[in-house]
Amino acid sequence: MNIVIVGTQWGDEGKGKLIDIFSEKVDCIVRYQGGSNAGHTVVVDDKEYIFHLIPSGILHKGKVCYIGNGVVVDPAVLIEEIEGLARAGISIGGRLKISSLAHVIMPYHKILDKLREIKMTHRIGTTGRGIGPCYADKINRCGIRIIDLLNPRVFREKLKDNLKEKNEIFRKVYNHSGYSFENTYRQYLAYGKRLSKYICNTTSCLNRAIADKKDILFEGAQGTFLDIDFGTYPFVTSSSTISGGACIGSGISPIKINKVIGVAKAYATRVGEGPFPTEFKDGFQEFIRNKGREFGATTGRPRRCGWLDAVMVKEAIILSGVSELAIMKLDVLDGLEAIRVCTAYKYKGKILREFPYDLEVLKNVTPVYKQMPGWTGSVTGVRKFSDLPVNAKKYLLWLQHILKAQVKVVSVGSSREETIFI
Ligand code: GDP
Ligand code: IMO
Ligand code: MG
Repeated sequence: MNIVIVGTQWGDEGKGKLIDIFSEKVDCIVRYQGGSNAGHTVVVDDKEYIFHLIPSGILHKGKVCYIGNGVVVDPAVLIEEIEGLARAGISIGGRLKISSLAHVIMPYHKILDKLREIKMTHRIGTTGRGIGPCYADKINRCGIRIIDLLNPRVFREKLKDNLKEKNEIFRKVYNHSGYSFENTYRQYLAYGKRLSKYICNTTSCLNRAIADKKDILFEGAQGTFLDIDFGTYPFVTSSSTISGGACIGSGISPIKINKVIGVAKAYATRVGEGPFPTEFKDGFQEFIRNKGREFGATTGRPRRCGWLDAVMVKEAIILSGVSELAIMKLDVLDGLEAIRVCTAYKYKGKILREFPYDLEVLKNVTPVYKQMPGWTGSVTGVRKFSDLPVNAKKYLLWLQHILKAQVKVVSVGSSREETIFI
């Protein structure tokens, strides 16, 4: 069984926790898009691991973890992550495989990311990890791929070409001194050498694994509304975060994907700029942010919080072909008098039941809420659906009904055990 796990909101839904849990049942775990903008948290025995590039399944012995061709790799971050795992006593051995076709994040990508943000009238609020500029070079056909780091002659030519153009842009547009060829060249050749034992044709390995009836889990990064096509453009990331991205970003045919699981928080969060119709007002915003510990796993920025938006999650379900849902962080709603879910939008006197892709509309809609009574006490200790408070059960069943997807997992805390399987 090959399963894709995708975020149905703006990222940080709790994908890392879910991937870790599902990893136990599969043979391989694959990251297929994004880069170190992702921060996926796994909590095991009170120890917190945050993964930026290495798939969140790596903590399970014997599971092979892939970084697919669709990922943009910052070698320094990856090496630090490998070394961090070694320090924590987790052996990677031959369990990490990096696609030779993945693109490399260069120092000039990271600086460009930051300089563009300063210059733009409408900031995106990126993570500053060089994601956009690196994907731009990929599409512009001047990117540097992992395989190039293993060939000094090819890498020399490509880097020279890139620096010629980029240094001119740095100097003339951004008043920045640019990058020296020698330093960058030597540093990145060394990264290539350090990573060489992990680099291979991951597409061939994965297709062989499928032929051998092995099970694969595809780990989505970011979320549906950060998708380059279907997200709240331009306030998005630069990759295809929907389930279709799994095929392109790993070289696996769509007919080999058996199931897509969507991950949603029981409320909603967003980091960075862009419209957020159900965003809470000040006091409540802070209350939920602190209760849910909603601070970015990559940048530490406070996450914006709001009510769950069912119009958006419904759209995400359609875009990715989600048949099963995991509802995360239900415990954060403990003790609220009432819980709201957005079921439609009001715009210029009309009711919109479908997600409006026109940002000018989305920015100006008023959410229409269904309000339900909350519950008292804590759900964190609950392990069976039937043991949940009546109103929590009602809330989940109603969600399942309006979203037309089965709720199969309910998460009630950050650790592996704090999970209800239905
Ligand atoms: P991801 O990017 O989708 O993997 O999500 P993040 O790791 O960025 O953010 C999710 C945060 O919520 C992490 O700190 C998790 O440890 C935490 N978390 C996950 N599930 C639950 C849950 O059910 N309850 C609570 N309280 N925290 C959770
Ligand atoms: P995970 O995988 C939440 C957001 C940034 C910014 C926008 C563009 O942990 O869910 P980028 O650096 O990608 O060019 O930034 O996307 N963003 C995320 N928000 N979770 C993430 O990843 C994100 N990755 C990028 O905050 O708004
Ligand atoms: Mg995250």
